[in-house]
Amino acid sequence: MHVEREVPPLGGVGDGDREVALTEWTLTMRARARHDPAPPHPGLRVERARVPSYELSHALYSAVGVTVCWTDRRTWDYDAWHEWVADPRLELWIATVDGTPAGFCELLGHDDAAVEIVLFGLIPTFRGVGVGGPFLSACIEAAWRYDRTLPGRDLPGDTSRVFLVTSTLDHPHALKNYLARGFELEHSEKWDKRVPDPRVSVLDLPFDPRDDARRGL
Ligand SMILES: CC(C)(COP(=O)(O)OP(=O)(O)OC[C@H]1O[C@@H](n2cnc3c(N)ncnc32)[C@H](O)[C@@H]1OP(=O)(O)O)[C@@H](O)C(=O)NCCC(=O)NCCS
Repeated sequence: MHVEREVPPLGGVGDGDREVALTEWTLTMRARARHDPAPPHPGLRVERARVPSYELSHALYSAVGVTVCWTDRRTWDYDAWHEWVADPRLELWIATVDGTPAGFCELLGHDDAAVEIVLFGLIPTFRGVGVGGPFLSACIEAAWRYDRTLPGRDLPGDTSRVFLVTSTLDHPHALKNYLARGFELEHSEKWDKRVPDPRVSVLDLPFDPRDDARRGL
């Protein structure tokens, strides 16, 4: 049965913000040998997605991030997203479970011999079933294997540190998962963040798809 429901008007950035008190942790792994791998999950595959796609990255960001208030990219417009996904220093890794896209991880090489896990997470369907540990392990190994010499990267030296930032807004298992895999707490900070309603997530396009002339482009 199709149920008509009233769709609330989409607010712009800043509408309906709430102030949320959070603790933010910076976690670091200073040697590959510190990595304590999680037991494997039989259906899990982790592969690098080498074709940059704004729409795909946006969809993954929204699907993983909606319940954990990932809203920082709400202000990114079409050009900002395109610039981000095309950055040669960025690597997107995608987890599938039994062939189904289940989560993603973004790795970014820095000038100071560090590789950052910028984002990491699973779509809600795949949480709590033993995928988060082995997926994180695969991403940690990918971070230590990160090739700083690839064209466009121009990053001197070898990777000597993998780091990330997580917070109380992320999933309650997130911090424990990082610590269980061998990350160490480097820094913590408490602050109040203005968080927009995470349920509103729309693509920014430089044209209106209702315009026949450009539909499908
Ligand atoms: C964080 C996330 C990947 C964890 O995945 P998960 O499926 O819940 O976790 P798993 O069942 O695979 O367990 C992985 C680790 O989480 C921790 N964990 C799992 N269940 C737990 C529980 N009930 N209580 C406490 N810790 C738990 C453990 O450290 C576990 O590893 P270990 O068993 O080797 O110690 C997942 O919840 C997620 O994607 N959340 C949304 C996005 C997010 O918050 N990302 C982190 C942003 S930085």
